[in-house]
Amino acid sequence: MKKVILDCDPGHDDAFAIMLAAQHLDLLGVTTIGGNCSLKNVTTNALKTLEVIGRTDIPVYPGNPGPLVAKLVTAPQFHGESGMDGPVLPDPVTKPQKKHGVDFIVETVMSTDHVTLLATGPLTNIADAIIREPKIVDRVDDLYIMGGSVTYGNWTPTAEFNIFVDPEAAYKVFNSGLRVHMCGINLTRQCFLHQEHIDEFRRIGTKAANFAADLTEYFLKTTEENACLPGCNLHDACAAAWVICPDLIQAAPMHITVELKGEFTRGMTVCDYRHLRGSEPAVDLLRTPAMEPRGEEPNAEAALELDFEGFMQLLYGTLKEYK
Ligand code: BDR
Ligand code: CA
Repeated sequence: MKKVILDCDPGHDDAFAIMLAAQHLDLLGVTTIGGNCSLKNVTTNALKTLEVIGRTDIPVYPGNPGPLVAKLVTAPQFHGESGMDGPVLPDPVTKPQKKHGVDFIVETVMSTDHVTLLATGPLTNIADAIIREPKIVDRVDDLYIMGGSVTYGNWTPTAEFNIFVDPEAAYKVFNSGLRVHMCGINLTRQCFLHQEHIDEFRRIGTKAANFAADLTEYFLKTTEENACLPGCNLHDACAAAWVICPDLIQAAPMHITVELKGEFTRGMTVCDYRHLRGSEPAVDLLRTPAMEPRGEEPNAEAALELDFEGFMQLLYGTLKEYK
């Protein structure tokens, strides 16, 4: 099993990432970051999720309350005031760890071989870890992120939420030398959940599956109210699934950096895919052979195509296994 630290801001879709990671990966710890909601709330939500699935053995370490430079932007219109509205759950009995999340990341990576990082919130903690101990770059196997986009944005026309919240951190991470695997919204918009998926969660009927149904019901409602989309996207679960089953996602190498100054484009992931041919960047790029990169050498790979059926089978199987 891959040894993984999950850095997240639960968040409905982050909760799905936790459920997938806890079952299929050696989840060394969960670190939290202010993003979808305050650090206090996202930490509580991580603890609640781990209690639902009976994995209170996985420690939760609170990280930074907000971005490196920018002011924190949250997303209550999608995730509610608690950051994970919908499911009715008791206050968690488990307490967060006293150690700072960034210290946990640095210490774990420096003392443990072959750690993979999975980040499903703003990249503040990861950037902070690199700043505190640059040597982690050579120690970490891979960094998978949910964030950015090869094409359009969701928070602004060009920026995805996680990158928009802390562009300076994202810039630091993409330009650090870490092996970044970017699962952007061009990919997660191939993962739409509807009422039929909620019905299947209810049919599975485990505690975890009912939790998944409650999460999806709320997320579907807020997505319908706030975005013109035909369902809700389990963004963060896609990134977790990529770590678990790399074959579920097809990706291509490219150079990616982050726009910090643009009047209209701050937080945009600028992806150089001029070496890939195809008419529709989200999907078709994989259909034809690539040429040599034309600009800077690729520093990342970007997810382009999701096996949605395979993803749902992984998710259903996971929810069945939790008693
Ligand atoms: C990302 O933003 C958050 O609201 C979600 O949890 C996900 O990580 C999608 O843009
Ligand atoms: Ca998230």
